[in-house]
Amino acid sequence: MKKSIKKTLDKTPLIIIAINSDRNIIYYNNFAKQKFLFLEEGRDINIIIRSTELNDFIDKSFNEKKDHRIEFQPSNFENWYFIADLFFLEEGRDSDSSLIIMITDQTMLYNYEKMRTDFVANVSHELRTPLSSIVGYIETIKNDSSLDKDITYKFLDIMENQAWRMTRLVEDLLLLSKYESEDKPLNFKNDNILNLVHSAIDNLNKKIEDKRLKINLENKYSKGDLTLNSDSIIQVFINILDNAIKYSPLESEITVRLKEAFLDERLFVQIMFQDQGEGISKEHLSRLTERFYRIDKDRSRDLGGTGLGLSIVKHIVNRHNGRLIIESTVNEGSVFSVYLPINYTI
Ligand SMILES: Nc1ncnc2c1ncn2[C@@H]1O[C@H](COP(=O)(O)OP(=O)(O)OP(=O)(O)O)[C@@H](O)[C@H]1O
Ligand SMILES: [Mg+2]
Repeated sequence: MKKSIKKTLDKTPLIIIAINSDRNIIYYNNFAKQKFLFLEEGRDINIIIRSTELNDFIDKSFNEKKDHRIEFQPSNFENWYFIADLFFLEEGRDSDSSLIIMITDQTMLYNYEKMRTDFVANVSHELRTPLSSIVGYIETIKNDSSLDKDITYKFLDIMENQAWRMTRLVEDLLLLSKYESEDKPLNFKNDNILNLVHSAIDNLNKKIEDKRLKINLENKYSKGDLTLNSDSIIQVFINILDNAIKYSPLESEITVRLKEAFLDERLFVQIMFQDQGEGISKEHLSRLTERFYRIDKDRSRDLGGTGLGLSIVKHIVNRHNGRLIIESTVNEGSVFSVYLPINYTI
């Protein structure tokens, strides 16, 4: 192969491998070597990329002297998805024929597509459950004219609760889409962080009183305002505090502490929410901010949760170039810390 062609192929962001009719590798480009470290000329392609589909189509291409396109998942690379174009090259005599295998890595696209379909399935499921409950009660009330007034009211109560659940879900979905996509601009302005914490606490006062909880607010941050989107930051504090309230025992204490803290040598304000609740075991910690992730689905639903709260938190914090760190000990409690950068400019 000409040097200039090789150079060009090396710069191509496609995996390109050529094999002879014995399946031995006769050429590969730079990108291929980055993906498959064990690539070497003279080696059997099957040792490098294990896939029965790929093997079958290599046979087909040589036998039929035709090009083919296939999608496959190599068995030696878990969760990788590839599309391969096989180009048959005939160079006169049979022994000289070769096959160019051009592979595009579809793994990211595939994962994105899976996330999207999972999300739609989750949303449909979450909406269908309250909806079928409402429809069920409507039918019962309609079909039974002798239904006691008290029972009818009880059913209406349940229907109202379910309707609220659907409303909350739709509201959370709207918030998620607002904060998730970077192209919807947020207004940033200077604001006092302590005031925003107060707003969140005030918003949840009734729930705090209902559980007779004590909120200890300790402010150790006295420097200037932060540049932020106030509404969304209040939302962050409400979501975290709402969880702390939900998962705390009656008459326990929740500590909210504001202080300066360094992370990766950068200065932040740390806003910490510490509860004395049941805690969260390690295996769940890294997944809590996934959409619809709940440790106990039924319990979260009973408590009125949609499972989107922390996912919304994560997106808002990301849009402020901040960090969310969750620490927890089972049976002792959890600490959710939001870090917002100081001197953050738009
Ligand atoms: N302070 C906490 N203590 C114990 N578990 C918690 C705490 N905060 C969150 N969790 C767990 O994390 C899960 C996800 O929280 P998230 O706020 O995203 O959802 P939710 O509270 O169930 O519903 P909602 O989205 O309506 O707030 C919860 O279902 C709960 O299992
Ligand atoms: Mg929540």
